[in-house]
Amino acid sequence: MTVSRTKPVRVALLGCGTVGSEVARLLHEQADDLAARVGAPVELAGIAVRRPNRHRDVPADLLTTDVDGLVTDDGVDVVVEVIGGIEPTRTLLLKALSAGRSVVTANKALLAECGAELFAAADASGADLYFEAAVAGAIPLLRPLRESLAGDRITRVMGIVNGTTNYILSAMDATGAAYGETLDEATRLGYAEADPTADVDGYDAASKAAILASLAFHTRVTSADVHREGIAGITAADVAAARALGRTVKLLAICERVTENGEESVSVRVHPAMIPRSHPLAGVGGAFNAVFVEAEAAGQLMFYGQGAGGAPTASAVLGDLVAVARNRVVGGRGPRESAYADLPVRPMGEARTRYHVSLDVADRPGVLAQVAAVFAEHDVSIAAVRQEGRSADASLVIVTHTAPDAALRSTVDKIAGLPIVREVVSVMRVEGAEP
Ligand code: NDP
Ligand code: HSE
Repeated sequence: MTVSRTKPVRVALLGCGTVGSEVARLLHEQADDLAARVGAPVELAGIAVRRPNRHRDVPADLLTTDVDGLVTDDGVDVVVEVIGGIEPTRTLLLKALSAGRSVVTANKALLAECGAELFAAADASGADLYFEAAVAGAIPLLRPLRESLAGDRITRVMGIVNGTTNYILSAMDATGAAYGETLDEATRLGYAEADPTADVDGYDAASKAAILASLAFHTRVTSADVHREGIAGITAADVAAARALGRTVKLLAICERVTENGEESVSVRVHPAMIPRSHPLAGVGGAFNAVFVEAEAAGQLMFYGQGAGGAPTASAVLGDLVAVARNRVVGGRGPRESAYADLPVRPMGEARTRYHVSLDVADRPGVLAQVAAVFAEHDVSIAAVRQEGRSADASLVIVTHTAPDAALRSTVDKIAGLPIVREVVSVMRVEGAEP
């Protein structure tokens, strides 16, 4: 193996938890290969943590609690950030970029909230900012969007980008269990964190959707722009209703380019949706992630793999590290922020979606007509209706054609108030072609 004698690329590793400890391990175990691929040795200059005595697997002399000192150390070329959260990471990375150090980060929350600021600091100093691990863990997805598809026009990105919620929904589908039971199981198995809010309430997926939409549509999209609904309200009845119709429930991140009256905009949302069991995303089980990308020339592409976990995420971090280290060795920069299109983000009410509505109603003449009249009143077209009588009651299932989300929401609100409706059993959006 030929290893260059060029001076080493020195790396400050910020964080040594689930992901950071795997980054440190791979850097050590694959040192020779990495040096050959980069053209210079890649060396750890230090590892910043909060509690050094908890990190027995890494050399003690590398550990420091002085994260600020490590980031500003003149001997550091690249900062790898796997701490997470907004502060102090934002301040640390701005300092690193402003001083010309390249940054590799897995921090989706920070990028989705402060991405523009970080890119501006990188541009000002000519440093690289890479973040492949921030969306869908090990899956190479951001580099294809940023580079491989840079000559195409992406129209849609849709996928499962949160492993914890996919594990929970897959388990509910397989066993018929309630949400609470499967969340407990996910926590016991280590998929869900002690505080699972970011995952189950959709914040994690919304950050990822913002990053995907920004790259796909060359437009700044922040987490605040993303319509977000989590899975905490999904009941066993919702999952059973989906199953009865040959569908399954998934938490989807959906980023769409919309052209209306000659004007372009983007729609970015995260919410649970029923998809046909024949849809490729329906077969994505457990903690896996999968993302569909549709582009005008390329057509449909699908990316699939492990979206979380220490080693899979470290793989993406190391890939970025090799890229930025190579740029350091041979000169040059990776791609910058591309936000030239500056498309407006549509409010959720204007997104065109389809609804599945399951109702318990009185079983007597005119009931269906009353329900159908509310849909007509809101200009929502019905695609399918199924009714099953049960003595004095009936179960009524309605699936709509696409309509503005606001119209669908108002329809359901009005139906819920009809005296003939005993209960709205389940309301969920529907994605994918009809089964
Ligand atoms: P962990 O909580 O496991 O690790 C965080 C690490 O950061 C710990 O080593 C902690 O030190 C250190 N740390 C926290 N605050 C500070 C601070 N102020 N100064 C110095 N060190 C600090 O997080 P993960 O490894 O799970 O996640 C890291 C990042 O990677 C996050 O942005 C996350 O979103 C992202 N990510 C994680 C994935 C996963 O599967 N875990 C998947 C994809 C992305 P100490 O150990 O001493 O407390
Ligand atoms: N908590 C995330 C998930 C992993 O469950 O997918 C980090 O992105």
